[in-house]
Amino acid sequence: MHERRHAAFATLRAMITTNDLAGELTGRRILLGLTGGVAAFKAAEFCRLLTQAGATVQVVMTEAACQFITPVTMQALSGRPVYTSQWDARADNNMAHINLSREADAIVVAPASADFIAQLAQGRADELLALLCLARPLAAAPLLVAPAMNREMWAHPATQRNLRQIAADGAHVLPVGHGEQACGETGNGRMLEAGELLEELIAFLSPKPLLGQHVLVTAGPTFEAIDPVRGITNRSSGKMGFAIARAAREAGADVTLIAGPVTLPTPRGVLRVDVGSALDMHASTMAEAQTATIFIATAAVADWRPAHAAGQKIKKDGSGQPPSLAFVENPDILAEIARSPRARSGDLYCVGFAAESEDLLANAQAKRARKGVPLLAANLGPATFGRNDNALLLVDAQGVTELPRASKRALARQLVAEIARRLPRAEA
Ligand code: C5P
Repeated sequence: MHERRHAAFATLRAMITTNDLAGELTGRRILLGLTGGVAAFKAAEFCRLLTQAGATVQVVMTEAACQFITPVTMQALSGRPVYTSQWDARADNNMAHINLSREADAIVVAPASADFIAQLAQGRADELLALLCLARPLAAAPLLVAPAMNREMWAHPATQRNLRQIAADGAHVLPVGHGEQACGETGNGRMLEAGELLEELIAFLSPKPLLGQHVLVTAGPTFEAIDPVRGITNRSSGKMGFAIARAAREAGADVTLIAGPVTLPTPRGVLRVDVGSALDMHASTMAEAQTATIFIATAAVADWRPAHAAGQKIKKDGSGQPPSLAFVENPDILAEIARSPRARSGDLYCVGFAAESEDLLANAQAKRARKGVPLLAANLGPATFGRNDNALLLVDAQGVTELPRASKRALARQLVAEIARRLPRAEA
């Protein structure tokens, strides 16, 4: 019996995808609460992602939750015995609700049923999970609620009233997804996917040095058409810019990401504008720069474009002579924005990037002066293109700061913190 169970657990673990967020929640203690809902299956994967991200996970399930998924599964995935009853006598003081709520850095209820949300709204304590939510120290143990229900239950005025009430009482209500539901209907009320829950939790727990800022990021290459099937472009995966957009959002900013042709997923909560050519990127970026407070130019913009893009595919004519192409220079988006009155007056803080192949420091200092930006982040092109890690040299008026090789995700966070430290302070 024991061996069968062991094999089943191994299969379950293998089925659940690994994530790239290893270590993001190291040292965090997360209490994961499950209530009755079909979305409980997503909580199994969420639990696995949490442990992979380094969190210690304590699962608490309501009686209804146990109808949908077993505590055995959740114990295997969290590596800790699951609590299901307020009468659990395991704790020496026999006060599971007090101990559990004091041992958590955050409580996440996923799925949160309509009934459970109603219990929270009323401050009820019928079951261990509702009881420990009521008993939690409000400042030390934030409560995140991931609703999951049928679209009519979601839209019902009572549910919406209860959600407003629990938000007013200090809960952080996560958004719901839209789509096909287990009941066969289509609409709002689906619980977020496991990966989305993890992103929301990491963002929630991140420091917020950019609260109130509007960050504008350009990322990826541009594509300059020669004819309908050919063009010239730059080597850029967009990974650094996307990581910066995500880190800025986690730091509390409103983020707009102007993306050249890349195939990366949009970070949660980020407004993405897809563009093709440098002229498209220029137009979209200039428009957004009117309201942005920070501009970070990571895009590898093509310096030149063909003077005339042919309307039809250019054919070989048999003469052996290649076609001659004339080029015109593209606008320098960063330099233009850095010269704008808002940037000059300090309302818009500009950060440039430089991909060099040698002499990083000297080239970075020269580029910072040429572009007229307060901060320039330099990297070695061949050591960053397409990779998941990188190293940066930050150059500003004060000198040089080295950010040693790390994942682009970690570097993006460090860069965001460095930018936040350099922002002109608002008058008190
Ligand atoms: O001149 P160079 O291309 O090396 O400068 C790199 C920096 O300038 C990057 O921040 C890049 O996003 C920005 N840039 C731009 N518009 C261009 C060329 C570069 O915004 N046309």
